Amino acid sequence: PSLEKEFLPMYFGWFLSKRSSEILRKAGQAFLDELGSLKAFKKESKYFPSAIEDPKIKIDLTSYFVKRPPGVLHCTTKYTEFGKAAGAEEYAQQEAVKASYGKGFTLSISALFITTKTVGARIELSEQQLLLWPGDADKILPTDNLPRGSRAHITLGCANGVEAVQTGLDLLEFVKLEKAGNKGEQVGEIGGGKLLYFDNGMWMLVLSKKIDVRAIFSGYYG
Ligand code: 2AM
Repeated sequence: PSLEKEFLPMYFGWFLSKRSSEILRKAGQAFLDELGSLKAFKKESKYFPSAIEDPKIKIDLTSYFVKRPPGVLHCTTKYTEFGKAAGAEEYAQQEAVKASYGKGFTLSISALFITTKTVGARIELSEQQLLLWPGDADKILPTDNLPRGSRAHITLGCANGVEAVQTGLDLLEFVKLEKAGNKGEQVGEIGGGKLLYFDNGMWMLVLSKKIDVRAIFSGYYG
């Protein structure tokens, strides 16, 4: 029979359960609240000018990252743009992708981070999960050579005028710094883990206890 060409989604990814989305949103919110009240952060608040109300009291990061994903949170694996993106068909046809479609996974969140543009959660993918990770995602520049899965993240929020695609690029900036031997300045322990400052308004909270979230691998059609 003449079947129509398969219609590809806007993107493939892991979609968190409602409960896991709520848990992660709360953790992100707590991180922003605590960071905004921290002395060391307030000293560097010039990177978040519009969030400064009274720097002696608190930097309002919640209203700074105004664009928050509605509904359940997700981790994009491949942005296929309904089939128009480079490598979209090839990705969709992989055995691992087809076999995993609709299946449940547990993703491990190892850190939360903010930059002047985005706030996100860093994911440590397992070997099995890396089978669903596209080969071309872990680059800002074509010459970048970073470990597979470096970009794996969940967008929690974006500053005004910033698109979600930025969160993964921001995470890659952290990874590039790490790779260059910059481990960040350890600012101290705050609720949940060790806070690192990488300058230029880049902060990362390395969780002392990873957050496991439940997610379904699927496609988003818009
Ligand atoms: P995100 O994965 O960082 O959140 C719809 O726009 C989703 O696809 C968003 O979740 C977004 O970013 C992601 N996205 C948009 N454009 C993208 C691109 N060019 N590459 C990878 N992911 C993209």
